[in-house]
Amino acid sequence: MHFHLRLWKQDSIASKGRFVEIDAQEIPSECSFLEMLDIVNNRFIAEGQEPIAFESDCREGICGTCSMVINGVPQGPGRGAACQVYMRKFQNGQTITVEPYRVDAFPIVKDLVVNRSAYDRIIRSGGFISEHTGGAPDASTSLIPKPVADAAMDAAACIGCGACAAACPNSSPMLFVGAKVTHLGLLPQGQAERKSRARNMVRTIQEEGFGNCSNYYACEAVCPANVPASVIAMLNREYIRGEVSEAVGAID
Ligand code: FES
Repeated sequence: MHFHLRLWKQDSIASKGRFVEIDAQEIPSECSFLEMLDIVNNRFIAEGQEPIAFESDCREGICGTCSMVINGVPQGPGRGAACQVYMRKFQNGQTITVEPYRVDAFPIVKDLVVNRSAYDRIIRSGGFISEHTGGAPDASTSLIPKPVADAAMDAAACIGCGACAAACPNSSPMLFVGAKVTHLGLLPQGQAERKSRARNMVRTIQEEGFGNCSNYYACEAVCPANVPASVIAMLNREYIRGEVSEAVGAID
């Protein structure tokens, strides 16, 4: 197969970016999107040209690092991360537009690579538990109703890829934050920080310059982990609970 790439090149956040036209030739149909970029990069390296900068780690849809926008869709078409997009999904000879996430809070590092450390800072502000839960046998002695365990598990599927913020017209990361708040807030181990967790994480969202949720549901539509938008409702409830608790002096 062969493809015509319209790919965003940018040296750094300070420099001006531009689309460049690249031919991707002799691409096996079973290639993933990232393997197609590898083939293009191998040619560039052999020709003495600078390769395209993009991020990846697991290439199994688990780590969330392969952030890019393919034909206008964060993490590409279909369900799954960009590393799970396969070239047989495109038509032979098709023009494919590839660009980085367009989110102010994710500054462009180079080409398709953006700095998503704002998500790390949001997690550091509340997305953790401080309880020692013991080993696995101890943890499994805490009985949790199946519907609650299932809802916590669905939320825990979030891979923190940033597609929710990239798809949102407000660049809102509330699907990501809601997933963490729901996952921890439903489980017994997460109760210790429950009153402060959402309050602190929402404050960090604002400090990092992300926008707020306006219920567009674009996040849910592109989420490669199928995290439901209902986690945002849970986040809102937990946030109000945290603010009220602080107002009445129930937490610092
Ligand atoms: S490289 Fe890990 S999710 Fe794509």
